[in-house]
Amino acid sequence: MSIKHQHANWSSRLAFVLAAVGSTVGLGNIWKFPYMVGESGGAAFVLVYLLCIAFIGLPILVAEWLIGRRGQNNPANAMTDLATAAGKPKAWMLVGFSGILGAFLILSFYSVIGGWSLYYTLSSVTGAFSGQDADGIGELFNGMLGNPGLLLLGHSVFMLLVIGIVARGVTKGLESAVRTLMPALGVLLLVLVGYGMTTGHFGEAVSFLFNPDWSVLSGGTVLAALGHAFFTLSLGMGIMMAYGSYLGEDINLLKTARTVVIMDTVIALGAGLAIFPIVFANGLDLDSGPKLIFVTLPLAFGQMGAGIVIGLMFFLLLTFAALTSAISLLEPVVEFVEERTPLSRISSTVVSGIGAWALGIAALLSFNIWSDPVLFGLGVFDLLDKLTSKFMLPLTGLFAVIFVAWVLDREGVRQELGLGDTGAKVWTLVSRFIAPLGVIVVFISSL
Ligand code: TRP
Repeated sequence: MSIKHQHANWSSRLAFVLAAVGSTVGLGNIWKFPYMVGESGGAAFVLVYLLCIAFIGLPILVAEWLIGRRGQNNPANAMTDLATAAGKPKAWMLVGFSGILGAFLILSFYSVIGGWSLYYTLSSVTGAFSGQDADGIGELFNGMLGNPGLLLLGHSVFMLLVIGIVARGVTKGLESAVRTLMPALGVLLLVLVGYGMTTGHFGEAVSFLFNPDWSVLSGGTVLAALGHAFFTLSLGMGIMMAYGSYLGEDINLLKTARTVVIMDTVIALGAGLAIFPIVFANGLDLDSGPKLIFVTLPLAFGQMGAGIVIGLMFFLLLTFAALTSAISLLEPVVEFVEERTPLSRISSTVVSGIGAWALGIAALLSFNIWSDPVLFGLGVFDLLDKLTSKFMLPLTGLFAVIFVAWVLDREGVRQELGLGDTGAKVWTLVSRFIAPLGVIVVFISSL
C-alpha cells in the first residue's frame, strides 16, 4: 500500500454539505437542465431524469464518498490502494484516471459558458435587456456567439478566477460564501417562478415539465437523462471521491447524500419552472439548445420593474454557482499533477488551468469560425459535452459503484453506512443490481 495521507477533515457536516452543494449546483442545473428538457420534449425526460437521480445517482454518490473516505487519497490512488488491499488488480486505478481526464475536459467547455454568464452580468448592468423583444434579445446573443474575441475574453476571465481561487488553496474559504449565496440564488429563482406565474403561461409550463408524453422518449433521450444525472451531481469524475477523502467518520453518508441530492434537484426544477413560462409566453423555440436561458431570462428582466437589479443579481449568482463548480473540476486535476510531477501547488494549478483554457478556445471557436464537425458530425463543444456526459461519466460511475458493491467487503460497507437489516438489503439490491444494470441497460438500448 502506498503512503496514507493524513488528511484534514471538514469542520462539520454543514461545511461538507456546503462544499458538495457548491460543486453540484452550477450551470448544470440552471443552464443545461432546462435546455435538455426543452430539446427532449419535456416531462418524459424529467421523470426519467428523476428516476436516474434517485436510483442511480444517489447510490453512486454514496459509493464515491465511501471510496474517498476509505482511501483517504486522490481518486486514482484511492482506487489503487483499496483495490490492492482487497487483493484486486490495480487496473481499478484506471477508473480514477478516467475521472481526472473527464474533469479536465468538462472544465474546458464549462469555462466558456461561465464566460457567457460573466458577459450577461455586464450586459444587465448596462441595461442591454431593457425594453427588448425576443428578436432584440436573440440578436444580443448571436452577437456574442459570433464574436470570438468576446467569447475568449469571457472564457479567459472566468478561467483566471478559477485558477486564482484554486492556486491560493482557499477553496474551503468559500464555505461561508456558499452558505449565503446559494440560498440567495434559490430565492431569486423563486422570484422568477413568481414572474412566470404572471405571464399567463405558467400552467402550460407545469404541464410541459410534469405531464409526460411518453411517445417522445427514445433510447437517446434516456441516455441523455442518465448522463445529466451524473453531470449535475458531479459524479463519475472522482470529485466526490476527493471530497469524501476529507470526510470525518461520524458523518452519515446516506443522509448527507439525500440532502445534497434534494437541493440540487430543487434548484434544477426551479430553473425549469422559471424558464418555460417565458418560453411559452413569447412563442420561443423549446429546442433552442444551449442559448435557452440566455434568450428567455433577459427577456423577462427587460420587462420587469426592477429588471436591471434582478438581472444583475441573477447573473452574478449564476456566475458564482458556476465558479464553485468549476473549482471542483480543477481541484482533482491539480492534486493529480502536483502529486505526479515535481511542480508546486501553484505551478500545477497554472499548468492544469492553462491546459483546460487552451482546449476551451477550440470549444468556443466551434460556435463561430470553426463550426465544422470534427468527429461523429459534432463540433468541438458538442463533442466534449457528449463524450463526457454520455460516456465518461456514466462509465466511470458504473465502475465506482461496482467496486463498492462487489469488490469491497460487504459487512464493512454495511457498518459504514450504518444500515440495519432491511436497509442493508435495499442497499445491496440498489448498489449491486439496480444502479449498475440501469447504466448498462441505458447504454445498450441507446446504441
Ligand atoms: N455539477 C456541476 C453542475 O451541475 C458541474 C460539475 C462540477 C461536474 N463538478 C463536476 C460535472 C464533476 C461532472 C463531474 O454545474
